Amino acid sequence: MASAEIGLIGLGVMGSNLALNIADNGHRIAVWNRTTSRIGEFIADAGPLADRLVGCDTLEALAAAIRPPRPIIMVPAGKAVDEQIAVLRKVLSPGDIIIDAGNADFRDTIRRFGELKDSGLTFIGMGVSGGEEGARHGPSIMVGSTEDAWKRVQSVLTDIAAKYQGEPCVAWLGTDGAGHFVKTIHNGIEYADMQMIAEIYGILRDGLGMPAKDIAPVFEAWNKGPLNSYLIEITAKVLAADDPATGKPMVDIILDRAGQKGTGKWSVIEAQRLGVPATAIEAAVAARVLSSLKTEREAAEKVFGKLQVKPFPKSDKVFADLEQALLAGKIAAYAQGFAVLKAASAEFGWNLPLPTVAKIWRAGCIIRSQFLGKMAEAYSGGPIDNLMMAPTFVEVMKGAHGPLRRIVAAASEAGLPTPALSSALNYFDAYRQGRGTSNLIQAQRDFFGAHGFERIDQPGAHHGPWGSGAA
Ligand code: 6PG
Repeated sequence: MASAEIGLIGLGVMGSNLALNIADNGHRIAVWNRTTSRIGEFIADAGPLADRLVGCDTLEALAAAIRPPRPIIMVPAGKAVDEQIAVLRKVLSPGDIIIDAGNADFRDTIRRFGELKDSGLTFIGMGVSGGEEGARHGPSIMVGSTEDAWKRVQSVLTDIAAKYQGEPCVAWLGTDGAGHFVKTIHNGIEYADMQMIAEIYGILRDGLGMPAKDIAPVFEAWNKGPLNSYLIEITAKVLAADDPATGKPMVDIILDRAGQKGTGKWSVIEAQRLGVPATAIEAAVAARVLSSLKTEREAAEKVFGKLQVKPFPKSDKVFADLEQALLAGKIAAYAQGFAVLKAASAEFGWNLPLPTVAKIWRAGCIIRSQFLGKMAEAYSGGPIDNLMMAPTFVEVMKGAHGPLRRIVAAASEAGLPTPALSSALNYFDAYRQGRGTSNLIQAQRDFFGAHGFERIDQPGAHHGPWGSGAA
């Protein structure tokens, strides 16, 4: 009997937790896994929720167990998605909905959306953020689909999503790739946020000479102020944890080589394609790449000598500056992320609701923070060119760019790298400079290529008096 409201394929960590979340919220869900022995184990471990889980040994049984039109969630990403879709096409009927809940490239999502059109099946590209815990107890969910497909799954997704003061952190953001695009930019911001936190940690560790256990309470205290966010909260916890094997701070035992699965890189590629400066996000992605060049870095340290760090003063003012610097840097990075979303919305015809995006990031996702509420308010007040120009953030940046400047300058003087923070500062400075220096670039372009330039005092295209050697 087709008793389940929804189906799910892939009982890995994310899939299992999403399925349990759906069952926990009163919905009957049919599940299938490639290694079928996992299905029985999963249901056996589900305790009282087992009654709402329908284990299916085959995809045909899965399809038969779900009430049409059948929504089926898949969790993998990459090539496996196309293979899974090909198999599902054989067992599903027109009107059924395949949901890709993995971190997919939105360009693949648009392609898959198009490929399924003639089959009568429909596709949802669903960005899900919040890791294992979020999947189980409430993620932030970013949906891209037709409006009809969204309506079919709206109640289940609303029930399982994180709630911010009672408001569900899920929304239909537009057609085809809109949900996966927004998730990609979420991850770009996540990279910048994490990198800036790591840079501040580096200053505390190497500039102020603080051990991890003394840095943890600094982040804990900051988490009670304007920086209040999930990433600051977990940073304090991570720094306070000891390695059970050695008894040393866990963070001191971890190799300084960061992994990445690609979403940060995609966000930078798309920003470039759209012609949007997202320099802090770019710097964060590049910093991860540089971190992975461990052997080269060690060789370079031998050639150039170990960094002779000039110590920072340990004063209340320095701690206050570090807090404000991080705040200013983060605002610039978020401004870049939202600017990419705004440009993509126009380019792909999504009409992305930016206030809603900020709202559904207030809980459940990795970048959830207190100031996303203020960002939601900023975008709700009507269109703004840049987040830094919203009145609330104008005030914050007026107070915080000085500290950011002092920290970046001092870190540079001390020999401590701050790629994302300094990119954020340069972005801010370039953005608020009414007359920049690209007049010279225009002159050079005209000199060597006769590209022409605009004058400040007359309309039209002009050429310079360059004389011999010029184009
Ligand atoms: C989330 C995260 C998640 C991502 C991990 C790892 O929002 O829950 O963004 O989707 O997969 O953070 O990403 P990297 O391996 O690229 O750091």
